[in-house]
Amino acid sequence: MARKPGMDRSDLFNINAGIVKNLVSSCADNCPKALIGIITNPVNTTVAIAAEVLKKKGVYNPTRLFGVTTLDVIRSSTFVAEIYGKDPRDINVPVIGGHSGITILPLLSQSGFEFSQDDADIMTKRIQNAGTEVVEAKAGGGSATLSMGQAAAKFGLSLVRALNGEKDVVECTYVEGSGDLARFFAQPVLLGKNGVEKILDYGSLSEFEQNTLNEALDTLRSDIKIGEEFLK
Ligand code: LMR
Repeated sequence: MARKPGMDRSDLFNINAGIVKNLVSSCADNCPKALIGIITNPVNTTVAIAAEVLKKKGVYNPTRLFGVTTLDVIRSSTFVAEIYGKDPRDINVPVIGGHSGITILPLLSQSGFEFSQDDADIMTKRIQNAGTEVVEAKAGGGSATLSMGQAAAKFGLSLVRALNGEKDVVECTYVEGSGDLARFFAQPVLLGKNGVEKILDYGSLSEFEQNTLNEALDTLRSDIKIGEEFLK
C-alpha cells in the first residue's frame, strides 16, 4: 500500500505490517535461508516485524535480513550530480540511519563536494522529503514507483553479485548490527555469500550530520519498537 498526500510512511503501518508478517512467515516456512530485502513502508518498522517473525519461527539470522534504503542513496547521488553537472553514477553519498523523515541522513560531507552548513541543511531536507515530494506530485496516485523499482533492482542485483562470489560489493542498507545506536541502522555493508559479510564503519560526520543523527535516534528507536511490539 502506497502513501497518499498528507500521509506519513508510518500511517501505512496498519495495512503493511500484516502483509509483511504474512510474507515473511511464508519465507520462514518455505525458504528460511533466503536473503530477504524489505522495501515495504514503513521500512524502519517493517524490518523489525520481519525479524520478530523469523525469530518466532526459529530461523532468524541477522546477516540475511535487509531493509532496502537504496532509494535514498540514488536520490542523494542524483541531486548532488544535478548541482555539479555530473553523472550520478560517478557520485557516492552514503546514507545512514533509516528510511523516513529525519532518520534519513545523507553524509554529504563524504560526497567529495563542499557544502556550506546552509546548503547541507537544504540538500539534506530535500533528500529526506523526496518521497513526500513524489507523493504530493502524484496527488493520490501513489508514491514513487520507477525509482523504487530502480532501488530494488540495484540492491537485489548487488546481493546476487555477492552471492556469485564478487568481492567488494558494498551497499548502504538497514540491518541489525551492534545496536550501539539502534537495533537496526542503515550504513555501508559489505555483502557476501551469506548476506552481511561485514558492517562497515560509516566514517566521521560533520557537526551538522552528528547533530541530525542525535536528533533522529529517538524516532528511529521508537519506529523499531513499534515493529517489535506488533508481534506481541
Ligand atoms: C519513497 O521514499 O519514495 C518511498 O518510501 C515511498 C514513500 O511513501 O515515500
